[in-house]
Amino acid sequence: MYVCVIGTGYVGLVTGTVFADLGNDVACADVDEKKIQRLSAGEPVIYEPGLEEMLQRNLEDGRLTFTTDIDEAVRRAQVVFIAVGTPPKDNGETDLSQVEAAALSIARALNSYKVIVNKSTVPVGTGDFVRQIIERNRRRQVEFDVVSNPEFLREGSAIADTLEPDRIVIGAPSQQVALWLLELYAPLERPMLITDVESAELIKYASNAFLAMKISFVNQIADICEAAGADVTQVAKGMGFDKRIGPAFLQAGLGFGGSCFPKDTLSIIQSAKRYGLSADLFEAILRVNKERIPRFLERIQQKLGSVAKKRIAVLGLAFKPNTDDLRDAKSLEILQWLLDQGAEVAAYDPVAMERAKELFPTVRYAQSAYEAADGADAAIVVTEWNEFKLLNLDKLRAAMRQPFLFDGRNIYPPERVRKAGFEYVSIGR
Ligand code: UDX
Repeated sequence: MYVCVIGTGYVGLVTGTVFADLGNDVACADVDEKKIQRLSAGEPVIYEPGLEEMLQRNLEDGRLTFTTDIDEAVRRAQVVFIAVGTPPKDNGETDLSQVEAAALSIARALNSYKVIVNKSTVPVGTGDFVRQIIERNRRRQVEFDVVSNPEFLREGSAIADTLEPDRIVIGAPSQQVALWLLELYAPLERPMLITDVESAELIKYASNAFLAMKISFVNQIADICEAAGADVTQVAKGMGFDKRIGPAFLQAGLGFGGSCFPKDTLSIIQSAKRYGLSADLFEAILRVNKERIPRFLERIQQKLGSVAKKRIAVLGLAFKPNTDDLRDAKSLEILQWLLDQGAEVAAYDPVAMERAKELFPTVRYAQSAYEAADGADAAIVVTEWNEFKLLNLDKLRAAMRQPFLFDGRNIYPPERVRKAGFEYVSIGR
């Protein structure tokens, strides 16, 4: 099938590359010339396990191309995916200007029947919005249909998630239109739900808000655990055995960050309000999440007193492991606070340091966790990279001046850390 993907962010790039790998002829289009040049040269632009190899293979085989000529890419395609950014506006509503621009390009280039697929995370009603833009601006009376096909991939496991999604959701105006996407996804042999456009759009937001709710929920349980002398990891484990609850997304910690949960929860709040409905539960999810870092910093201060002039090692910068993404990363808030308080900060992250250097040039960037901890008064685990789980804690302790280890992700068994001579503070234990 001839496929065009507009937007080469996480979703667009990974989707386009995987569709090419499944044997389709895929053109990925973007307005960012530099990015298109790098991608055309086989440089994946983002850090994502498995992407580089798949990208290069499909480029070499000629199934995958990158272009800034959006019109031409659309003209050739039978199916056009819109996978552009949908950032939040200041008031929490979703900024649909990039979706609008993509729809206008499609309208301009429309030369034969095409299925237009919204893959960007967009509020309910956006399918209709896209349809209207194309209808009003098309230059020829050519037919088209708009489908919603939300993406559920996670950063850090984006390729695996795209190849083996839990479900594929197709919101289409008719079964016949849905068949186009069924055919595209058939090789994956995964469960598919065919539904209407509005329901598909809501499935994405409802899923993300629910997962965010699980995290905020377990974080509030963690606070009770701390006060009551219980261990939140045990509580979560005990809850997770219940099939109705499940063990996933019950890791207490510094709260959720990244490019999706904060923005999607905000957006569903706006959707509810737009219909004059209550958004109390959704608002609480964000409120609880916002309190996590101040609470953690307070505990650091309780132990260390003032951090001014103290040497602090920050382990992990990315918003989660296996990505170099710093969007809404907890490290940003923590680094900013430490610097504001006058601490001397050394940071280490396996892949996210380049991006952090631009934002925090005064931080010292180390080549390993041990180097970051050298002479430190305290170490703070912000991202649960596997390499931190496997650190030699005796060696880490020996490198440090004072024994404080603040673990925002509960990656160590408390006994092991204490045996290495640390004063250990983790979350809800
Ligand atoms: C999320 C959704 O999982 C994915 O389906 C959707 O398509 C995009 O948004 P992503 O943001 O890449 O994916 O990361 P995810 O693994 O879901 O983690 C999000 C945040 O929640 C991270 O900051 C993570 O540290 C935090 N988290 C996750 C917890 O604090 N506890 C958990 O138990 C799980």
